[in-house]
Amino acid sequence: MNMAAKGREKIREIYVNAGGGYKVTVGAGLIDKCGELLRPVLAGDTVMLVTDTNVAPLYLKRVSSSLANAGFRVVSYAIQAGEASKNMVVITSLLEFFADSGLSRSDAVVSLGGGVVGDIAGFAAGVYMRGVAFVQIPTTLLASVDASVGGKTGVDLSAGKNLAGVFHQPRGVICDVSCLETLPQDVFADGVAEVIKTGILSGAELFSLCESRIDKSENLIDIIEKCVQYKAKIVEEDEREGGLRKLLNLGHTVGHAIERLSGYTILHGHAVARGIAVISRAAAALGYLSEDVLRRIISALEVNGLPTTTEYAAAELAAAAISDKKRKGGTITLVMPRGIGDCALVDYPVDELEGIFSLGLSGAGTNACDGTGAL
Ligand code: GLY
Repeated sequence: MNMAAKGREKIREIYVNAGGGYKVTVGAGLIDKCGELLRPVLAGDTVMLVTDTNVAPLYLKRVSSSLANAGFRVVSYAIQAGEASKNMVVITSLLEFFADSGLSRSDAVVSLGGGVVGDIAGFAAGVYMRGVAFVQIPTTLLASVDASVGGKTGVDLSAGKNLAGVFHQPRGVICDVSCLETLPQDVFADGVAEVIKTGILSGAELFSLCESRIDKSENLIDIIEKCVQYKAKIVEEDEREGGLRKLLNLGHTVGHAIERLSGYTILHGHAVARGIAVISRAAAALGYLSEDVLRRIISALEVNGLPTTTEYAAAELAAAAISDKKRKGGTITLVMPRGIGDCALVDYPVDELEGIFSLGLSGAGTNACDGTGAL
């Protein structure tokens, strides 16, 4: 067996001690085994498989067969792909469908797709009959390294992203890296932005892997494992985001503002990449971060084909960020990078935001790319 084939044999299991406790299983070809992997953690007869219109033609049949072979009655629902589906109207339709399909309290909802599907399906599972079992089968890198782990679910409101939702930890996460091989490059890069975020937060071991281009090679299993291990540690200490978990919002205050200002036409990871660049430049200007580490962060984004500039002005970004749920009265908590593996939560009065974002936008032209470069 050659090295590459050997790499595909790897299966990693990461235990997350939150909710009832659950395992994140990472490996190649797992969707065809999801029935046997899930049977021990799901007690009911029926699985409600929630997916989207992009993922259904690719994987729905294989996942349904595996679940049916494990003895489950499988019912499926495909939502329209895209962030625009993250709203309460879709949640209501989904809940009505659960009830019409006879989904009972002991049954389970399984999400098959990216972060949007997971957020919607998880929210519906969290409120249906006051909460039924939930499982995530992420099919994007972004969902694999971040969204599928930690129990955050929800939908957007006109006032901002993820403003309605519940914490609902899954019973298990099955991450099949074979699904990532067919991702369009911009969707793959979206997840790389969250990997870079985790690298900055967690330290040199992961960040150094982000300093060269991350591709769909065999070390993706290692990268996903490192991201999930870091996230598990944070979630275990602060499941409800009272403090520490806010670190995972690095780049997200500006990122969410950009997503909202673009009418959600800019993908989450691409917005977060811009947000990481803006806050890192601001952190350097304010004396938190050295110019050398700033250069390394910008370079990691660029080498992975991610954008580091935004067309939105500091005032627009600040106004959009102020309605974000992370605002606390007259202050907002920003995640300030101080080094690789060293970020701080800093509270700022909301009227200082525009000035901070201006610092993050100035000088952006000198080392920026527009993110459209080939990966
Ligand atoms: N995506 C950030 C978190 O789960 O807290």
